[in-house]
Amino acid sequence: MNADLIDATLVDATAAASLARQRVAVIGAGGVGLSVAACLALGARHDVVLCARAPIEDIGIDAAEGSRRVPVRTLTDPAQATAVDWVLLCTKAQDTASVAPWLARLCAPGTRVAALQNGVGHVERVAPLLPLAPRAAAAAVVPAVVYFNAERLARDRVRFGEAGDRHLSVPDDEGGRALSRLFEGSRMNARPNADFITLQWRKMLLNAVANPITALTRQRMAVLHHSDVRALCMDVLDEAVAVGRACGARFADDEAANMLATLLALSPAFGTSMYADCMHDRPLEVNALTGAIVETGAALGVPTPVNRTLLALLRAISDASAAAREASTPGQRAAA
Ligand SMILES: NC(=O)c1ccc[n+]([C@@H]2O[C@H](COP(=O)([O-])OP(=O)(O)OC[C@H]3O[C@@H](n4cnc5c(N)ncnc54)[C@H](OP(=O)(O)O)[C@@H]3O)[C@@H](O)[C@H]2O)c1
Repeated sequence: MNADLIDATLVDATAAASLARQRVAVIGAGGVGLSVAACLALGARHDVVLCARAPIEDIGIDAAEGSRRVPVRTLTDPAQATAVDWVLLCTKAQDTASVAPWLARLCAPGTRVAALQNGVGHVERVAPLLPLAPRAAAAAVVPAVVYFNAERLARDRVRFGEAGDRHLSVPDDEGGRALSRLFEGSRMNARPNADFITLQWRKMLLNAVANPITALTRQRMAVLHHSDVRALCMDVLDEAVAVGRACGARFADDEAANMLATLLALSPAFGTSMYADCMHDRPLEVNALTGAIVETGAALGVPTPVNRTLLALLRAISDASAAAREASTPGQRAAA
């Protein structure tokens, strides 16, 4: 390990001293996984291993304070993995089932699995994959809302962007507080919140509009300023707000209008992850976002006709991309 690569200014030594060393496995070397692994490795408080599909020797992280390279141990085969204290699951939601071989090796009684993924229903998605009895598996999963934005610039390089000083939100329960402690003394924070359901659904509102509309129109956020599109966005939001409320989210009367105003205030040049995946013919994270709104609405008797229409179109695009990838060679897939 090259000691020059560690930036001690990013480490809070006081907090670092107060916590026990943990074995942490980060699954998925994308924007979120590279950011989380780099921030924890910079903290130097835990033993961090990155579980990826290709080896990475060190992570280049471009953050507000500058660029750093952070050495990280990578595993590329689940057979190499042993049990850890924490698994941080950082794949797209649709890839969750594919990490089962990793979870089988990394999890033992006492292991916690934090799901750093957009959408809702993290426990339902992840717990059945854990090699634990159902009740223990459900208790082991810690859902997290991700607020930073991270763009993978190369296989081993990430741009870590922040909107405010909040990086992750977690439930204010035993698991959430344990994840919060894991990040103490690192470059990243995880903040427990007693009204996690509202935060989760508020993030869902943002994704329900920005991702589908930019993907379907193959345009960046500027497209939201088109007057017809703005009206469509309000319809999408009104339905999603109704579903969120039915799930217990405490939304204000003007929640949808406020969310649209927030989206319109973002840079028109911003893309979204679904836009990027669409432009690169990759499968879309559609079932965990628009799909969850439609399915939850159906289960709770909340009509979602506009979201259902978007869902049909997005699934058609995503399925075509998945079929094309299936037919492509590994080299073509890596280049995509
Ligand atoms: N990026 C952001 O700014 C951001 C912000 C908020 C929330 N989120 C959410 O966070 C989650 C992760 O997003 P992301 O942007 O980091 O996605 P991403 O850039 O697509 O990265 C996902 C990574 O998971 C890897 N992966 C998939 N299946 C795997 C498997 N079976 N074994 C090992 N690695 C596997 C992929 O590998 P390959 O590269 O080989 O395909 C990829 O590197 C998503 O739910 C997203 O919506 C992201």
